[in-house]
Formats: sequence, structure tokens, C-alpha cells
Amino acid sequence: MDLYEYQARELFAAHGVPVIAAYTADTPDEAATAAERINGMCVVKAQVKTGGRGKAGGVKLAKTVDEARARATDILGMDIKGHTVRRVLVTGAVDIAREFYVSFLLDRANRAYLAMASVEGGMDIEEVARTKPEALARIRVDAIEGVTPAKAAEIAATANFPEELRPAIAEVLQKLWRVLVAEDATLVEVNPLVLTEQGDVLAIDGKVTLDDNARFRHPHHEAFVDRAATDPIELRAKELDLNYVKLDGSVGIIGNGAGLVMSTLDVVAYAGEEFGGVKPANFLDIGGGASAQVMANGLDIVLNDPDVKAVFVNVFGGITACDAVANGIIQAIALLESRGEPVTKPLVCRIDGNNAVEGRRILDESGLAIVERVETMDEAARRVAQLAAGA
Ligand SMILES: Nc1ncnc2c1ncn2[C@@H]1O[C@H](COP(=O)(O)OP(=O)(O)OP(=O)(O)O)[C@@H](O)[C@H]1O
Ligand SMILES: [Mg+2]
Repeated sequence: MDLYEYQARELFAAHGVPVIAAYTADTPDEAATAAERINGMCVVKAQVKTGGRGKAGGVKLAKTVDEARARATDILGMDIKGHTVRRVLVTGAVDIAREFYVSFLLDRANRAYLAMASVEGGMDIEEVARTKPEALARIRVDAIEGVTPAKAAEIAATANFPEELRPAIAEVLQKLWRVLVAEDATLVEVNPLVLTEQGDVLAIDGKVTLDDNARFRHPHHEAFVDRAATDPIELRAKELDLNYVKLDGSVGIIGNGAGLVMSTLDVVAYAGEEFGGVKPANFLDIGGGASAQVMANGLDIVLNDPDVKAVFVNVFGGITACDAVANGIIQAIALLESRGEPVTKPLVCRIDGNNAVEGRRILDESGLAIVERVETMDEAARRVAQLAAGA
């Protein structure tokens, strides 16, 4: 999960990374109140999960409370690379002498972490990385050893930080590392880390990515989930403990096993070309068990998507035999009907594997008009694409 700047800042503050006073605001009036509390020059910053906010006009200086209200009026509702700004962060303004860049990230290929640091931070760090790679120091960080004082000093020296600043930079690096470890993050980035005219080192902008696999260890991270920006069907699927990802096509997909579901997406997209570019509407893996209840939940999720015109149920019976899966499909349809949500969209089913013959017989004899059984995966993909296209 990627965090918003204001959330990253919260974690920074909790672990002692130096930040400046800041308050979030969802309305211009709230921004004015925040500016009053800051009592001086402030910066109004769009909170969106994308980079380049400054260049897009989403970071503005305000000298007075009224200016803060006006800048918030401009920024709230703005579209930055497809993200609508619903919240701003109002922070104190500082006199910047220099802007640096520091980050830690998981380096999977090398089974380690990677520290990156540059004395040429600021809004153009991507440009620096491209045109002047030598200005961006990359230092391997061993996961077990972590960022010791010696490692922090090495990073500060390799990146060529001014001698007199190195102790302060090293201090910040160790605290940032603590954020990464304690919060189970896969990325912590500060750009810019600034040196003020007064000589302080401060994190002015932050980016943090949390490892979702570690979420169970951090109940307080639940509060970081942005419910308003999450697809409502994905939210519901998460509540039902289903592995669901919304896509933008019209064929609902239900399968068991991530590999099978991914290849189902491929064959449907391929078959859909014949019908004017019909595409899968989702990824949904109901897992190995595929009980009637889980099948009902899966159908419920997929059929609730208004974009779905037809559904492809592609199941390979393994531990759960095909007859149980077939009964599961029939019971799921009955279950939805009893909930007052009768299934009206066509269901193309392909089942294979353990006890396939019996499973197919059950489906064929179910007498359900919306269920169409097709022998092979390719034929089923073609048929469902055809149905979704209304052809
Ligand atoms: N509190 C502040 N006081 C003074 N200047 C600031 C402050 N916050 C930001 N700035 C200036 O605005 C620039 C852009 O701010 P920031 O890094 O937060 O956004 P950004 O880099 O455009 O966003 P992103 O990181 O999403 O690309 C900074 O590099 C800095 O020069
Ligand atoms: Mg930035």
C-alpha cells in the first residue's frame, strides 16, 4: 500500500525523523484554520498518490491565512495525472538553502535493501538519475545488519554530503531505516530532505510503501486505507476474503488458482479480439476449495459489477472434485436467488480435472437456462466473449 504524504509524515514523526508542523484540510476553510495554527508562511500541498505534484501546480506557497484559503480552493478538486485532489496538507514554510534526496528500498534482485542518496535532490531527481547517474549514490544495505551508524556514515560520504552535515544526515538515515523496519515498509523516500538557512535538516516531502503481507502485524495501518479511493467492489471482495482485482472489460472471470485465472484472462482477451475487443472485467481467484459458499460469494462480487455482461467460470478440479464444484455452482445460483439477487447474466462454465465427467453431467442436467457448459477453455473463452459482445 502506497501512503499519502501526510501519512508518511505521521510515520516519520513517530520515529523521530525531523518534519515540520502540518495539518490536513479537506475544505478551503479547514486550510485557513490550519494556516492560522501554523501562524506564518505556509505551503499548501495536494495529497495524491502520484509524483510531480509541484510541477502540476499542486504545491503552493501562501503568505497569509486568506492566501492559504485561496490556494486550497485552487488545489482541491484539481486533477493531477488522473488523481482528483480531495485533501491538502498545510505545512509551515521553511527557508531552503539546499535540497537533497535519500531513500531506502527493497532490492529483491540482490536479496538486500538499497540506499539511494544525492545532494542534488528536489523536483528533478528523476532527471538527475537519468542524465547524471553518478550523482545518485547507490549503497547496498544488508537486511540483517541494517543501517548502523557506520553504514549511515558510509551513505552520507558516498553521496558526497558536505562534511559538516554528515552527522546530521547520518542521524536522519538511521531514523528513516527505523521507519522501514518498524513499519514493514518496502520503500521510504524523502525528496527533498532540506538544509534550511538556519542550518536544520528537515524532511519536507515523504513517500512510503508498506508491505501488505505484513499488514496483520500493524493493526494501526488499517487507518491508512483510503476507502473513498478504493473500488467499492474490491472493498467488498476484500471483506469476503476473495482475491479480486477490477479490470476494465466486460467478461466476468471466476477461476481457481492464480495461474489458471491469469491464463483465463489471456485466452478471453485473445478470443475477444474477434468480437471487437471484448476484455476481462476482473481477476478473481476463488482458491482451491471452491465451496458453494465461496462460489456464491465470487458470483455475487462478479455479477455486482455493472460492466459485466457474461461470466466465465473456469475451474480445474483438484483436491475439490468437479462434481463438488458443479454442485457449488448450482447451489450458489440458488443462494443468490434466495437472497433476492437472481442471476440473469449468462454463465459459461468449463470444468475439468478430478471427476470431470460427473461434474459436467450435473451441470448439464441442472436445467438452468443461464448456465452454458463448454468443453474446452478456448471454446469457452470464445463463447463468453461472443455473449458479452451481444453477438
Ligand atoms: N514546507 C516547505 N517550505 C518551503 N518550500 C517547500 C515546502 N514544501 C515544498 N517546498 C518546495 O516545493 C518543492 C516541491 O515540493 P514536494 O517535494 O513536496 O512536492 P513534489 O516533489 O512536486 O511532489 P512529488 O514528490 O509528488 O513529486 C520542494 O522541492 C521545495 O522546493
Ligand atoms: Mg517531492
